[in-house]
Amino acid sequence: MTGTAAQAADDTAARLRLRDELARSGLKIAQPDDPPLFTRVPESSMRPMHWRWAELEAFLQELGQVLDLRPGGDRRTLRLANPGLEYGTTPTFWASIQYINPGEVATAHRHTPDAFRFVMYGNGCRTTIDGENYSMSEGDLVLTPNWAWHDHLHHGDEPMIWLDVLDVSLIRKLDNTFFDPYPEDVQPVGEQPEKSWREFGSGLLRPVGAAPAPRHNPLLVYSREQADAALELAKGLDPDPCDDVILEYQNPAGGGPALPSMSMKMQVLRPGFQGVTHRHSGSKVYWVVEGAGTSFVGDERFDWGKGDFVAVPPWSPVRHVNDHDTEAKLFRVDDSPLYRTLNIYHEEIAR
Ligand SMILES: [Fe+2]
Repeated sequence: MTGTAAQAADDTAARLRLRDELARSGLKIAQPDDPPLFTRVPESSMRPMHWRWAELEAFLQELGQVLDLRPGGDRRTLRLANPGLEYGTTPTFWASIQYINPGEVATAHRHTPDAFRFVMYGNGCRTTIDGENYSMSEGDLVLTPNWAWHDHLHHGDEPMIWLDVLDVSLIRKLDNTFFDPYPEDVQPVGEQPEKSWREFGSGLLRPVGAAPAPRHNPLLVYSREQADAALELAKGLDPDPCDDVILEYQNPAGGGPALPSMSMKMQVLRPGFQGVTHRHSGSKVYWVVEGAGTSFVGDERFDWGKGDFVAVPPWSPVRHVNDHDTEAKLFRVDDSPLYRTLNIYHEEIAR
């Protein structure tokens, strides 16, 4: 054995010998079999995923018939569980599909995770958020910022299905889960209906007076009509090489993302679009609003259609293609605001 090899053997023996002794005092040193403290680029156990609508819809209809709302925390949800993670759809959030039958009440509560709903199918539900009451229609985005009371009451004739996303994976890691049930099934509705929408919904003009406190987004709902109109305008701009036409739902007071930990986006891939491969910090989930296309995620190829979901792990290369003769429209949520806030956002675009 050379001198260097003997030294290394001594060092390994010393580390192993100290392991148990240090552990009894709540201490440790690096051990030869420890995984590396640093990796050159992010390595995630999250797996690229594709959930097809035909399968999801069949399960949802079954759940709607056989499951009561109450035992599931007064919510009937089908969670998109990533097989590479112990918890969550991605390392920071859970995406679930909520199914509510006519006449059902998703009772009032509040919690520290931020949440939003994007209405996938159906109309007629009304939601109350801190006393403000809104209708929920297909294509609408509805926020329930953390610690806001919220409940949903379905007045329509057909079941409603929406995407429910909470940054609960993150809040759980931070050991900061707080939850309060409301003492009644539903909270009282305030005297000014749709107040935040009336004040900030135009996105361009608002009542005169002091600017709102920047801590919370003052707007609670974003309508499908406004998103569609904005996308039509954006089609006249230069296309994004990776995402074609893509817009972010903005906080009208501060100009940042609609929620502090989650950025919601709507994008259109026009017929013939061949995207450039790119990757960036953080995870994302797509829901196909309309059309069909293909996304290459890491080593996987996903040929998706209307109603499907696709999940992309952190730092996974992604390329979008639309080989069809109709537009594809995608709703997306990602956790990029967290990385930008911490000043650790990385992005790479293939040249
Ligand atoms: Fe909730």
